[in-house]
Amino acid sequence: MIIHTTRLKERVGGEASLRGWLVSKQARGQVAFLTLRDGEGTAQLVCERAALGDEAFEALKALPLEAPILATGLVRLPEGRDRPELALRELEAGPSAPDWPIGRKEHGPDFLMERRHLWIRAPRQAAILRIRSSLEFACVEFLHREGFHRFDAPLVTPTACEGTTELFELDYFGKAAYLSQSAQLYAEAGIAALERVYSLGPCFRAEKSVTRRHLTEFWGVEPEMAHVDAVGNMAFQERFIRAVLRKVAEEREGDLAFLGRDPESLVFGPEPFPVLLYDEVLERLSRQGREVPWGEDLSVEDEEALAAGFATPFFVYKYPVKCRAFYIEPDPADPRLALSSDCLAPGLGEIITGGQRASDHDFLKSRIVEHGLSLDDFAWYLDLRRYGSVTHSGFGMGIERMLRFVCGLRHIREAIPFARTPQRIAP
Ligand code: 4AD
Ligand code: MG
Repeated sequence: MIIHTTRLKERVGGEASLRGWLVSKQARGQVAFLTLRDGEGTAQLVCERAALGDEAFEALKALPLEAPILATGLVRLPEGRDRPELALRELEAGPSAPDWPIGRKEHGPDFLMERRHLWIRAPRQAAILRIRSSLEFACVEFLHREGFHRFDAPLVTPTACEGTTELFELDYFGKAAYLSQSAQLYAEAGIAALERVYSLGPCFRAEKSVTRRHLTEFWGVEPEMAHVDAVGNMAFQERFIRAVLRKVAEEREGDLAFLGRDPESLVFGPEPFPVLLYDEVLERLSRQGREVPWGEDLSVEDEEALAAGFATPFFVYKYPVKCRAFYIEPDPADPRLALSSDCLAPGLGEIITGGQRASDHDFLKSRIVEHGLSLDDFAWYLDLRRYGSVTHSGFGMGIERMLRFVCGLRHIREAIPFARTPQRIAP
């Protein structure tokens, strides 16, 4: 019976067949060790000349890497090891070109990114992509359990959501259109119909900055809730993060361990995630020798320095209005501040931005004007404040940012099947 590599441990002492591709091979005298990869992981095949016969043994030693293989043998668990292996009795192999380009030697990132269509097969990359799939599913599952409806926003839009400097412009039958930066504004329309909605889809940013955490195309999960204020929004984000990470830790325990990431480190203790005010953050950074002028957004380096001191995700709350988007609700106690928060992951920095949305028509209108945006373009968005406007909040989490934290990735390019950056749109 053909089983997946992850189920090998259930078959110790019996026969099993594995079907996959050849990842590596090593011959030592009368024994060869092959590694087989399938869609769930890898397993070692122990091949003895005595058991296979000379001809089969020599044929197997000559197999090219990435040859499709079907391996049958006895499943055994060597003493002191926790991963079973297959003592090979029979091997069927299909053809593959002999010049598989990705070797064991260290390749530079450009070499690997040019071959991303092949690089994703590497066991480490495949583990990351399985974790990504679990993460996305865990988000969707949690939100549905919490009464959210999926609400798919358009990707071709007439307006900017997150500022006008990072827009990809298209020629839409002779008119300018833009690739969506965020589903938020449409999700805000959705809440008056469905109360709790979320979008999970691509977001585009024509961001020229080349960093370890920016892509020009990333995937955002963006929940939006009626009747929730900024504080309730942070409390919800905390429950969301806890539930999603717990699920991923359970479901992908093996893959996380393979990446050297302790699944337990994704399950947090009962202490609530800290909430720091922007003003407190500036003081903390100043003590670390980093001076941020009041009103400025935190840089990547500021966030990393700040996040180094935390063991759980934490919030930075009440950013100055002038470093936030046009749609934010100001703090009634101090209108220089926005009821808006970022959630930062330990050691890394921002993974979520969220906040309460301006609900007053005239105030929102004045903000659109102040930001130099067109009142015509945003007439529909202002309508949402004319007809039955309520307190509402939401947030956006970058899947790749969260995955970077979950998997402990240095660079975001490994967190998505085919990363789009200013220098790369191929393969
Ligand atoms: O912080 P951002 O720009 O916030 C918004 O777009 C809001 N409209 C979201 C909302 O309230 N619905 O983006 C949200 C998140 C960030 O916290 C980050 O995780 C991710 O999206 N993100 C990026 N990820 C990769 N590359 C980029 N260039 C990103 N820009 C934002
Ligand atoms: Mg942000």
